[in-house]
Amino acid sequence: MSTRSLLPVFAATLLCAAMPSHSQQKPVNLPEGPGKEQVQALCSGCHGLNRVMNSGYPQAYWNTVMRMMINFGVPIPPDQINLVTDYLAKHRPEKPKPDASIIHGPVKVAIREWQVPIPGSRPHDPLAARDGAIWYTGQMSNRLGRVDTKTGQVREYPLKSPLTAPHGLVEDGDGNIWFTGNQVAIIGKFDPRTGNVTEYKMPDPKARDPHSLAFAPDGMLFFTLQQSNMIGRLDSKSGEITLVTSPTPRSRPYGIMVNSKGVPHVALFGTNKIARIDPKTMEMKEYTLPEPRARPRRMAYGPNDVIYYADYPRGMLGRLDPESGNVTEWQSPGGPKSEPYGIVYTKGAVWYSESGTRPNTIVRFDPKTEQFQTWAIPSGGYIVRKMDVTPDGNPVIATSTINGVGVVEVK
Ligand code: HEC
Repeated sequence: MSTRSLLPVFAATLLCAAMPSHSQQKPVNLPEGPGKEQVQALCSGCHGLNRVMNSGYPQAYWNTVMRMMINFGVPIPPDQINLVTDYLAKHRPEKPKPDASIIHGPVKVAIREWQVPIPGSRPHDPLAARDGAIWYTGQMSNRLGRVDTKTGQVREYPLKSPLTAPHGLVEDGDGNIWFTGNQVAIIGKFDPRTGNVTEYKMPDPKARDPHSLAFAPDGMLFFTLQQSNMIGRLDSKSGEITLVTSPTPRSRPYGIMVNSKGVPHVALFGTNKIARIDPKTMEMKEYTLPEPRARPRRMAYGPNDVIYYADYPRGMLGRLDPESGNVTEWQSPGGPKSEPYGIVYTKGAVWYSESGTRPNTIVRFDPKTEQFQTWAIPSGGYIVRKMDVTPDGNPVIATSTINGVGVVEVK
């Protein structure tokens, strides 16, 4: 290896020294070819080469992924970007994906989408604010953004720490936007009036990756830490943080929400469980889903706080009644590989996105008739990781690799 190509290695190592290294898994054998050396040198550290080589995209999305990594500070020399992109596109093309299954039905929608300004921002989660705007986390651009859905105008706000990797976001009663800083182990509070960010650091070094979050009516902010296997609670008035570890090892606490009685539930994506959290003691009560392979990722409450969940790896929509513990499941229209992900309940139905079909879909499930209706996302969607609901009841999406956000206007 020449001295020239060693430089980025040191830079990348330095860059990542401050960051949690989630997965130092077993070595990956890279296929031979031009670009191999650069991938080896530049693309491990933050997430391990397996994260890269288990992926597969069409060339256009490898371009986007490279923009994301460059935004995130990966020190790749400009004259080597194409080399690396071509190597990845050649050796890791898109994996076969099921076609979207389009089911017609009685409901009419219009899906409107907007692009965010910086390529490779990876808008991860959307937030439908009370004033009608859509906010998003620019996970790889270190920004929060706001789309005025009336004018289409987009405004972005830089965060305080570099490489924050903002992930989830929620609005409080005063219009502040609270977000998880996934790479720097903080909860952030952003005040849109002043542009100020207040950072709340995790009190335990083992609590590395704040992920998703939800407010209880009393101002307690509950959040998950997926790789750290923890649940947290931040008192938004005092700033005090309480952490508990999930009783099931590697349970990957993921989606979280708070019901009408102020009680949080969390989807344990690493196992076939959903847990109820005692809001005072943080004690977790687990519901075990009957199918051992079930992996609930995100959830939404229906009437009477019944829980609907997206079972990502099995392509199922599930319903858990927390009173009785009864579980019902339906195969998602796109089939076992349809990867249901972002999910909400609004206008008397469950709405979610299939992130594994081509194109991604918006699915509507009517709990009364048990009928599905689906629509293709015009841009293709390419991984809607979270959904939210506007004050007038329309589902909202962020299209992470397409670099956009959108709203499903239900007629
Ligand atoms: C400075 C840290 C860092 C380095 C170095 C790095 N990445 Fe990443 N990468 C990230 C972060 C942060 C994410 C997103 C967080 C997550 O979901 O784990 C990510 C995610 C990814 C993903 C998954 C994207 C998806 O949509 O699921 C791919 C593919 C990827 N990186 C490729 C690369 C390649 C190729 C390189 C080398 C050119 C590289 N990474 C180097 C930080 C880094």
